[in-house]
Amino acid sequence: MPLSWEQFYAENPPPSDLDQKRHYVQDFCQKHLNNGSRIVLITSGGTTVPLEHHTVRFVDNFSAGTRGSASAEYFLEIGYAVIFLYRLKSIEPYLRHVMGSRFLDMLEIDKSADNTSISVKPSEVHNILPVLTKYNAAKESQKFLQVGFTTLSDYLWLLKTICETLPSFGARAMIYLAAAVSDFYVPATQMPTHKMQSQDGAPTIQLDLVPKILQPLVSSWVPNAYVISFKLETDENILIKKARGALLKYKHKIVLANLMDTRRSRVVAVTPEDETEIILTEEQKQKGLELEKFIVDYLSEEHSKFIMESTAQ
Ligand code: PMT
Repeated sequence: MPLSWEQFYAENPPPSDLDQKRHYVQDFCQKHLNNGSRIVLITSGGTTVPLEHHTVRFVDNFSAGTRGSASAEYFLEIGYAVIFLYRLKSIEPYLRHVMGSRFLDMLEIDKSADNTSISVKPSEVHNILPVLTKYNAAKESQKFLQVGFTTLSDYLWLLKTICETLPSFGARAMIYLAAAVSDFYVPATQMPTHKMQSQDGAPTIQLDLVPKILQPLVSSWVPNAYVISFKLETDENILIKKARGALLKYKHKIVLANLMDTRRSRVVAVTPEDETEIILTEEQKQKGLELEKFIVDYLSEEHSKFIMESTAQ
């Protein structure tokens, strides 16, 4: 039997900087509450489950953070205030375009200035300029807040804390759960303090079930928000059935169903009434378009309808 969500929070301590992060989020929300702006909480990246208190080893969930970070850029472009709850060291909005050694390849040292100046290679300006322009616009608008997590427990504490600051936005708040969240964990009371030693033989590790957090999120924390979850499967035959099952169980608005192998080019938006395929064609991909742009366009339209219906009631 999984723990109840209340028991999970009672047994797993919050991150040490939770109060500080809560204040950042409250300030951010306060700023955008009165200007009529819509707000979206995007979760992104995978959670880790530590196997030791002083963690050397952990179990990870699959997610690079591409979905969440690309979506954040498109939500910002259409005017949403964005809280980006992301796995530290996973892909981040804007930076994702210039990551790794590719970034260094874009720069050159100005030898005529006695090695005191570095600039972007003229041949790379057309790559960096649009990204930098969008990044600066997001910064100036003050509509972008990043909050980092690593472990499952930190993620769940931060998710709850952020959700608890959103109810005053009512239907204007959207929750977009793209993070890959572990269904299993090792309870803090059953974890060794120090690194497990191979000389002690092969360890037997018992993983417990994590309570489904969508349940309190939808029914208690943000009951008036527009909540969207993702469903990731590897078997097409069960994908839509599982997505429908989640909708029935948690009663949120949309499940975006995707398969691991085709997640970059296809999702199915499953609602209680409908199924809508959102596709990125090869031709659109060649033109540099991304599936997340179409997902965000679709969701913002559906969100508008939801806000109108909510205010009419
Ligand atoms: O980051 P990328 O590499 O671009 O990949 C994107 C993605 C494939 C990770 C993304 O598109 C995706 O599908 N994310 C959700 C993956 C996932 O965790 O699915 P799930 O079937 O385990 O969970 C379904 C939903 O239940 C999720 O929205 C999750 O927030 C929620 N959940 C999960 C565990 C838990 N204990 N409580 C929950 O509420």
